[in-house]
Amino acid sequence: MENKNIDAPLSMPRIGDRAPAFKAVTTQGEIVFPDQYAGSWVILFSHPADFTPVCTSEFMTFASLEPKFDELGCKLVGLSIDGLYSHIAWLRTIKEKIEYRGMKDIEVTFPLIEDITMEIAKRYGMIQPGESSTKAVRAVFVIDPHGIIRTIIYYPLSLGRNFDELLRVVQALKTADAFSIATPADWRPGDDVIVPTAGSCGVARDRMEHQEAGVTCHDWFFCTKKIERAVVLGVINKAAE
Ligand code: BEZ
Repeated sequence: MENKNIDAPLSMPRIGDRAPAFKAVTTQGEIVFPDQYAGSWVILFSHPADFTPVCTSEFMTFASLEPKFDELGCKLVGLSIDGLYSHIAWLRTIKEKIEYRGMKDIEVTFPLIEDITMEIAKRYGMIQPGESSTKAVRAVFVIDPHGIIRTIIYYPLSLGRNFDELLRVVQALKTADAFSIATPADWRPGDDVIVPTAGSCGVARDRMEHQEAGVTCHDWFFCTKKIERAVVLGVINKAAE
C-alpha cells in the first residue's frame, strides 16, 4: 500500500520566484543549480522512478528532442528519488535494449539528479503527498537565463507529458520576451500574437478609431498582429543569440 501523508507541510516555488539553489550529484557529474545554467533557459523536471514504463517513454522522448531544445538554447535536467547507480543502470538499459515508437539506441546525455534524500524534490514541491509521498510527480519548471521560474506544470504519476507543449512553452516565453507581446491559446510560431492591452481610455479609443497598420482589434482590449514564423524563429533560436 502506497504511503500517503497529505498533511506534511511542503514548500512550493511559484512562477516569478528565483529557482531554489542546490548542488547535486547527477549522471553527468555534480551540478550547481541554477548558477551553472545562468545565461541559458533550462527545464528542470522530475519523474516518479527509474525502470518504470511511462518514465522510460518520457526519457526517450526528451532525449530524442534534446536537439530541438538545444536549438532554443534550453538545457534539460531530470530528477527522481532514486540513487545514482539505479539512474546509470536504467539509462544503460534504455540505450541498449529499449525500442519504442521508432526510437532506439537512445542515449540520455542530459544530467539526471539523484535525490534519495528527497531534499530537492521537497524544496521544489515535486512531492505531492495526495499522489505519493515517496515518488515525485511529473513536475516541469521552465527557468529563464536569470534563474527565474517562468512556467510550472504538474502531471500525475500515470500521465506522460506532451513534449510538443514543452517546446511550445519555451518558444512562447522567448517570443513574449523578445517582442513584448503575449501569445493566445494554442499559439505556434507564425500565428498572430497579442499586443499589450490598452492601458488608458485614450489608447483604447485610438485603437478602435485609427487601427494601426497590421494590427487587428477584435475589441479595444483584444488586438492581434502577425509576426512571421521566420522572424520569430530567427530571434528565438540559439543561432540568433
Ligand atoms: C511509470 O513511469 O510508468 C509510473 C511510475 C510511477 C507510477 C505509475 C507509473
